[in-house]
Amino acid sequence: MRSFGGIPALGFGTYGRWKADGEDAILTALEIGYRHIDTAQTYDTEGECGRAIAAFGLSRGDVFVTTKITPENFGAGKLIPSLHRSLDNLQMDYVDLCLIHWPSPHGETPLPVYLEQLAEAKTEGLAQRIGVSNFTIDLLKQAEAILGKGALATNQVELHPFLQNRKLAHYCKEAGITITAYRPIAEGRVASDRAIQRVAEKHDATAAQIALAYLMQLGYVVIPTSGKAERIAENFGALDIALDADDLAAMRSTDRNERYIAPDWGPHWD
Ligand SMILES: NC(=O)c1ccc[n+]([C@@H]2O[C@H](COP(=O)([O-])OP(=O)(O)OC[C@H]3O[C@@H](n4cnc5c(N)ncnc54)[C@H](OP(=O)(O)O)[C@@H]3O)[C@@H](O)[C@H]2O)c1
Repeated sequence: MRSFGGIPALGFGTYGRWKADGEDAILTALEIGYRHIDTAQTYDTEGECGRAIAAFGLSRGDVFVTTKITPENFGAGKLIPSLHRSLDNLQMDYVDLCLIHWPSPHGETPLPVYLEQLAEAKTEGLAQRIGVSNFTIDLLKQAEAILGKGALATNQVELHPFLQNRKLAHYCKEAGITITAYRPIAEGRVASDRAIQRVAEKHDATAAQIALAYLMQLGYVVIPTSGKAERIAENFGALDIALDADDLAAMRSTDRNERYIAPDWGPHWD
């Protein structure tokens, strides 16, 4: 599979993939060919991921696993023990990527306190790569000042055809930070957009596939999720689609700065 900055281009998101049904969906994703699984401490799906990966029987080097540290575990001395608990849930010795899930709400924990523990997790071999999620340009600059340029593998942010986040994406490209796009199909809403429908018709594809193909063609990692086997397969099919210049221009025009995830304790978005 294609990869960006060492991260497989298409991953399987696991928010909502709980209990036996969730484990089945993750197993289905692995059977279809996904080799990148995205979880987080707060999703409560690390156990499902660990059991599905163990059941499928992949050797550790053949699957890329991301987890995210919740702000509750940012305090001095808390991050690494919390990552050990995550690794126990995942039945693994290390994650391929460990992210700060959100900047500390209202700056309650100073940035150096949690970023330095994150770097320590990498030094200890608990994470092969480290990164952040929901960071703005200003926060990325502060993080780079603390950890050094090149330390962050990715910034995982909301990004889809209706929120193309170009200013942030441009900054990340210049800084060598891979964008991981969450909510990449806007929870299926992309199907209602006429411009996306037209590109989909031209490629005999679905709107979700076109949205994912577009984002990957821009160099972004995408992590859609579904609880339905046919959609898990449909989304994986985006890897086979190549868009031409007209398609890219049409997709570019669908941006309308429509953000779905913006908690009041979150950062001031770019
Ligand atoms: N870092 C963060 O703060 C953050 C925030 C949000 C999400 N994430 C990550 O990103 C992943 C994906 O984000 P998301 O779940 O918010 O959004 P998404 O992947 O854009 O949308 C998932 C929703 O779309 C539906 N769907 C999936 N494939 C479809 C298709 N081909 N056609 C039509 N509908 C389809 C699914 O319903 P069915 O299950 O019924 O198919 C599900 O309700 C999460 O699982 C999580 O891993 C990270």
